[in-house]
Amino acid sequence: MRPAALPLSVIVLAAGKGTRMKSRLPKVLQPLAGQPLLAHALASVSALSPAQTVVVVGHGAEDVRATFPQAQVTWALQSPQNGTGHAAAVGLAPVESDGITLLVTGDTPLIRSETLAKLAALANEQTFALLTCVVEDVAGYGRIVRNAAGEVTRIVEHKDALAANDHAVLAIHEMNTGIMAAPTAWLRGALAKLTPHNAQGELYLTDVIAMAAVDGLRVATAQPDSETEIAGVNDKIQLAALERAKQRELAIRAMAHGVTLADPSRIDFRTSLEGGFACGSDVFIDSGCVFEGNVEIGDNVRIGPNCVIRDSKIGNGTVVHAMSHLDGVVIGEGALIGPFARLRPGAQLGDEVHIGNFVEVKNSTLAKGAKANHLAYLGDATVGERVNYGAGSITANYDGANKRRTVIEADVHVGSNCVLVAPVTIGAGGTVGGGSTVTKSTPPGALTVARGKPVTIANWKRPAKQKS
Ligand code: UD1
Ligand code: MG
Repeated sequence: MRPAALPLSVIVLAAGKGTRMKSRLPKVLQPLAGQPLLAHALASVSALSPAQTVVVVGHGAEDVRATFPQAQVTWALQSPQNGTGHAAAVGLAPVESDGITLLVTGDTPLIRSETLAKLAALANEQTFALLTCVVEDVAGYGRIVRNAAGEVTRIVEHKDALAANDHAVLAIHEMNTGIMAAPTAWLRGALAKLTPHNAQGELYLTDVIAMAAVDGLRVATAQPDSETEIAGVNDKIQLAALERAKQRELAIRAMAHGVTLADPSRIDFRTSLEGGFACGSDVFIDSGCVFEGNVEIGDNVRIGPNCVIRDSKIGNGTVVHAMSHLDGVVIGEGALIGPFARLRPGAQLGDEVHIGNFVEVKNSTLAKGAKANHLAYLGDATVGERVNYGAGSITANYDGANKRRTVIEADVHVGSNCVLVAPVTIGAGGTVGGGSTVTKSTPPGALTVARGKPVTIANWKRPAKQKS
């Protein structure tokens, strides 16, 4: 993306505590669309294919690192956290190449890689590039101060403008996004000269701008496409606002692929950042659904309202009715699921399987056309084709110490309220009478009834209430 002469290094600042979050979780691990804030920033950065990416961590450093075990980054520890300028210096220490360094804050998750690329392309040995934005609500942000010629001369932090009672600066609406690109060698020297003489007693990264102007570097500015791209997350209110913005973006992406959403403002995607949601054609998704992890949906699938679907694959033409919870499931074509179905990890349902209301399936395989339509539990079971599994029946798969399997062969009919005590096999075509507790395997084609014989006493008189 860049000329080979100017290798690009990226420093992501992610050491801050995020005090305003009022949370034990480090700020950069707070979730946005189901992924840590830092994951979003890293995804945007990695699209630039930089020579090196350094992530500066401090608060909760171990947790942050452990959250990204696969990341191709250099971790730099900033302790104590003495401001963004200090963080930048810590991040620059392990940077191997000269060229351009792009500084990105870990708490601006919606920044697009195109915007970062544009900014990085603006920087060279004579030019410092700064991403700025004119916003209505500028409170809390550093202000971009320009001279009469319109050149950027310095950045003044909000708190310092307040402390100095500087109305002219406070009236500026052009803000520092915190994202900038600088010639690496110059930046090293500038960061070494920072002092903490300011309202927060910290080393401000923003102070290098005034140095650039003095050193004769041109300060070029670029703007993002929209304000949401550079919105920083400092508290839960901003986090919620960005969550909605991100969800809108993901809903639009799904609709652009042809998915029909009953209401794009009432759907949540918490899927993985690398194509976590894949959908065929003519898919309809009703309101209130939540998708998590990696979800793959075939053609002509309908998902009813308020379903939660995580790490699952749903075949063509399948209908998932309202209020169903699917987690780690593979479903074939033309199946009917729910309403109120609970499909747990390892449930593998073949084509045309029916799972009705209040049916729980875990670590079980159901072959084509098998049905469990009401109030039932299938755990650690292998269920054959066309099996009908009655209301209220369960596989007793756990003896208190071990899980054991139940095998229900093809065309078996299990009546209502049965307990199949594993390990047990019900032979093909067999029938289990309602209310049976089956502890031994049964041969194919047999009827098994395992319950007390009915006793009927004719003309039975109920006891009368005694008078005291
Ligand atoms: C910073 C900028 C401000 C800008 C705003 C944009 C400075 C001094 N101010 O303010 O001009 O308008 O971002 O959102 O740079 N961090 C560290 N180590 C530290 C302190 C912070 O790594 O010692 C990291 C944080 O984790 C965060 C980022 O730097 O990702 C910004 O820090 P934050 O405290 O949010 O700065 P702001 O007050 O928002
Ligand atoms: Mg911030």
